[in-house]
Amino acid sequence: MRKITLVGAGRVGESTAQILAREELARELVLIDINGDAARGIALDIQESAPLFGFDTRLRGGDEHELLEGSDLVVISAGRPRKPGMSRADLREANLAVVLPIVDSIREHAPDAMILMVTNPVDVLTYAAWKRTGWPRQRVFGLSGVLDSTRMASFLAKETGFSVKDIRALVIGGHGDAMVPLARFSTINGIPVTHFLDEETLGRINEKTRQGGAEILALKQTSSAYDAPAASIAAMVDAIARSRRRILPCVAVLDGEYGQHDIAMGVPVVLGPGGMEQVVELPLTEREQEALERSAEGLRKLIDEGALT
Ligand code: LAC
Repeated sequence: MRKITLVGAGRVGESTAQILAREELARELVLIDINGDAARGIALDIQESAPLFGFDTRLRGGDEHELLEGSDLVVISAGRPRKPGMSRADLREANLAVVLPIVDSIREHAPDAMILMVTNPVDVLTYAAWKRTGWPRQRVFGLSGVLDSTRMASFLAKETGFSVKDIRALVIGGHGDAMVPLARFSTINGIPVTHFLDEETLGRINEKTRQGGAEILALKQTSSAYDAPAASIAAMVDAIARSRRRILPCVAVLDGEYGQHDIAMGVPVVLGPGGMEQVVELPLTEREQEALERSAEGLRKLIDEGALT
């Protein structure tokens, strides 16, 4: 890619910038933050690591929204993080107020870009951004399932003692307590995890996955997770920038898939040069479909109460 812009130079933005630069996922990487000097400082600091890592990505930072011009992809992580005890949904009003003006700036300065939403509550904000832009849903999507799935995969690795290299986990639904980990579609080198772990253990892993973000926040107190989130964003950007067409669970606007309309939630999609190229519909059992519908109901309430429809 020619240019990627990260709006929000907090810990998630900074860690993401480090990975994207090192992986040379764009020729030009821009950090925008309301605190322009912080964004400039982070850009400089990462740039000065380039001779050691050997990357040619050029970094810039600032607070001017004109810096968005020419972006192929904009990652939005600006906004308030959770404090211990808060749910992601508690951030809705505050972060809508942060994110919608950013979306307006993207429309103005980078009308052909794709938007990758990271700010929470990510499903609600992805939907709000999509509505606000009026763009095809292929160009507005969000982070959720890649992060939740890497957490689940790491718990599966720990529990089985097998290499993470062979483990694939799949989590769909909202990025919240009602997310839907799918053990049936989680495998160890193609072998369903249900072959190795009993229902009780899998239930425990599902719950640990649902609480993954909250567990880290409760331990760190002053910051949410950012290492696994940044790695997850980088995996999504890599799929797009390198035209891989990976199947990854992401927040996508649904148009009838899984029986859902007018909502954005986590489902497996094809992520490639065209962005969210296609929603992959899985044959769910009645129980899985019910869990997904419960998750969707919670999100729909947040969307309706936020007057986003
Ligand atoms: C988490 C936050 C970033 O899951 O939503 O860690």
